[in-house]
Amino acid sequence: MDKDYWNEQFRSRQNKLFSPEEYLVKNIECFRPGSVLDVACGDGRNAIFLSKHGYDVTGIDFANEGLRRLRDFASTQGLRLNTHEINADDTERITTLGQFDNAIFVHFKPSIKTFLAVSNLVRSNGIILMTSFNYRHLLKSPQFPSQLCYGEAEFLNRSSLLDLVEYVSYSDERGFLDGYIFRKQSAP
Ligand SMILES: C[S@@+](CC[C@H](N)C(=O)[O-])C[C@H]1O[C@@H](n2cnc3c(N)ncnc32)[C@H](O)[C@@H]1O
Repeated sequence: MDKDYWNEQFRSRQNKLFSPEEYLVKNIECFRPGSVLDVACGDGRNAIFLSKHGYDVTGIDFANEGLRRLRDFASTQGLRLNTHEINADDTERITTLGQFDNAIFVHFKPSIKTFLAVSNLVRSNGIILMTSFNYRHLLKSPQFPSQLCYGEAEFLNRSSLLDLVEYVSYSDERGFLDGYIFRKQSAP
């Protein structure tokens, strides 16, 4: 599932934005006020939701067609968001984005290197929220793209700078998913 695949996916979508991810909607109250970095933001259903809630949102993705749709949806709604065409594996480039109050990964599985690079950009007491399908989903639907599926507890205990607020496995009409919420520790 490379950039061309995702660009084609976004090109074939209708001119309608999907609903924001329920796990994000449910947990927005715990975010630190300010900015959010949306990693692999796609065409922006979550970025636009966050922008409407007053966050200064930066969306990054390697699919320019997704980012183009995001910008179109945003301008139709009078919202201003920052977008950057970046491969999430390019941690050097990510590091140049500056600091953020929060970060999200939704339906995207970062490498541990990217997870840690993004964690480093989040300010003290900021939130990192992640959710995607999990390994149970893969057992049930082996044809589902494994790149999108989190392994069991895959992101636990990866950084001593992150406190775990919540790790949940849940299921809904789409299948089996995991959710993580971390809070960046306060500076010593
Ligand atoms: C399933 S979509 C999720 C999009 C969005 N987060 C959402 O919840 O609607 C996965 C997204 O990951 C992006 N993506 C996949 N691999 C990437 C990479 N290496 N760097 C940046 N974006 C990537 C795709 O372009 C696509 O927009």
